[in-house]
Amino acid sequence: MKEIKLPAPELSGDLTIEESLAKRRSIRSYSNKTLSIKDVSQLLWAAQGVTSNIGFRTAPSAGALYPLEVYLVAGKIDGLDVGVYKYLPDNHSIVQTIEGNINDELSIAALSQPQVRDCTANIVFAANYSRATAKYGKRGIRYTNIEIGHAAQNVCLQGVALGIGTCTVGAFDDEKVGQVLRLPENALYILTIGYL
Ligand SMILES: Cc1cc2nc3c(=O)[nH]c(=O)nc-3n(C[C@H](O)[C@H](O)[C@H](O)COP(=O)(O)O)c2cc1C
Repeated sequence: MKEIKLPAPELSGDLTIEESLAKRRSIRSYSNKTLSIKDVSQLLWAAQGVTSNIGFRTAPSAGALYPLEVYLVAGKIDGLDVGVYKYLPDNHSIVQTIEGNINDELSIAALSQPQVRDCTANIVFAANYSRATAKYGKRGIRYTNIEIGHAAQNVCLQGVALGIGTCTVGAFDDEKVGQVLRLPENALYILTIGYL
């Protein structure tokens, strides 16, 4: 599939980190405004963007092994076809993995939570545990699960700074989410996204 280069991330903004922390809430309903590709790019960068010339990222990772993969389930996004895309941190780009709208199936897999169906986009974190367990054994599972929290919080706080509401969703059937998104990795966390 064709690789789509994302707009370069902004490295400054209008809200302080303190204001973003104070304002963050789980938001479960959104305006139906189309998300700009620039804002989506910024959220993906916040999740796992590369911020150093040796490949280190916005979120810490045990041993810099980066076991997380980030998927964008795109609904109404400026210039993007509806579908599922995988984020490629090294190139700050995405590649489409599924065409068309899978929100109904994804919501059903997430215990029919309506915000998963009705949001403008979902960001799904998946984990390739073997990247961490190859070095750390069983403890690599713990490290990977901790890492998801770092990355997800980055997205939530970046969302606040952009006027985007997010809700972190952990209640879902792992296998069904994996099937719906055709993931080679384990599905770990869904973030629903849309403008306030
Ligand atoms: C690991 C985890 C899983 C969660 N799963 C869900 C979920 O499945 N559905 C949902 O609506 N909210 C979910 N939440 C969000 C919590 O309900 C929310 O953070 C909590 O009510 C506090 O509200 P706040 O985020 O606005 O401060 C989850 C939060 C965490 C940390």
